[in-house]
Amino acid sequence: TMSRLVDPFGRQHNYLRISVTDRCNLRCIYCMPEEGMEFEPTDNILTYEEIVDVVRVVAEMGIRKIRLTGGEPLVRKELEKLVAMISSIPGIEDIALTTNGIFLAPRAARLKEAGLTRVNISMDSLRPDRFKSITRGGDVRKVLDSIDACVKAGLSPIKLNVVLMKGINDDEIADFITLTQYRDIHVRFIEYMPIGHSDSQWKNLYLPLNRVEEVCAEQQWQYEAETTIRGNGPSENYRLHGAVGSFGLIHPVSEHFCQTCNRLRLTADGYIKPCLAWTEQFQVRSVIGDDAAIRQLFLDALGTKPENHEMSKFLQDEQDISHTPTARRMSQIGG
Ligand code: GTP
Ligand code: 5AD
Ligand code: SF4
Repeated sequence: TMSRLVDPFGRQHNYLRISVTDRCNLRCIYCMPEEGMEFEPTDNILTYEEIVDVVRVVAEMGIRKIRLTGGEPLVRKELEKLVAMISSIPGIEDIALTTNGIFLAPRAARLKEAGLTRVNISMDSLRPDRFKSITRGGDVRKVLDSIDACVKAGLSPIKLNVVLMKGINDDEIADFITLTQYRDIHVRFIEYMPIGHSDSQWKNLYLPLNRVEEVCAEQQWQYEAETTIRGNGPSENYRLHGAVGSFGLIHPVSEHFCQTCNRLRLTADGYIKPCLAWTEQFQVRSVIGDDAAIRQLFLDALGTKPENHEMSKFLQDEQDISHTPTARRMSQIGG
């Protein structure tokens, strides 16, 4: 059979995150600078046909799960088409979307019809004013409408991604968990990662996720491990006793989870990125059309994958955060 996607540490890769654009309709404070970003010229962005060529090849090498990311994937025209194209590729079992949810409500049903299996929605505050300031202009009601539209469309489980930031939204931990008591939603708290930042912002806002455990103790909440949530990522999941929904913790900084890494990334401008937090990238765009060359490039990329990201060293060192090993911003990777 075809060469499989195994890295030097024996990790088998079955999950490809595809960034379809570096553009976004928002500029969240942890993701983009206030003045915005210079976007990649459209000519450098992979076409849907090119993306599908890559997916077809890696599906033969064992990729089973696809996640579409951005920027904001829904700013790319007719994303439904790409979903439909990918869902017809033999071997692909799961096509998920990570979105800010602003444009999702009117498209949820069509995306589901095209073959989308589930969505993760970024939502860092439940409070309209605060949501607006974190996203620099976003309307939280649109996101809430999208959640309802996803329920209606049968896109489940619905996950909310909450990047915790000290002094910004850490007073909403209990509110988010309370939401899971009566709604079939999976809320995931995420540690703020030092990806592509050029100032001390990260160190000031970073909050380790043991804060979530403290809040549960303060509330005297009982919870247990939850192992049935569908997902391919690094989240550890829990459910409050009697709750309809559940919550999860993604703590890349305070605890290592790289031992089980199963992910590769394809950037919107056509590079394979073997690790979120590392600089190495391999231009696949120029070899599309040559399946053997695509295969070889993925194997080369896997060969450079680090054992783990070493993000926590930025907590200890006096090192300037501008030296984070990835040059790309989060919006140019897709998380
Ligand atoms: P599921 O398939 O639902 O488990 O999704 P996921 O958690 O893989 O994807 P999502 O796009 O919702 O990402 C949630 C958070 O996890 C984001 O902050 C990502 O940047 C982060 N994340 C995902 N994969 C990795 C990884 O390999 N390394 C690190 N450090 N963070 C990751
Ligand atoms: N640290 C952790 N998560 C981040 N995200 C964006 N930037 C960061 C960061 N620096 C999240 C987004 C989205 C997902 C793809 O990654 O909120 O939910
Ligand atoms: Fe995998 Fe790199 Fe993420 Fe670690 S940081 S889980 S090695 S992609």
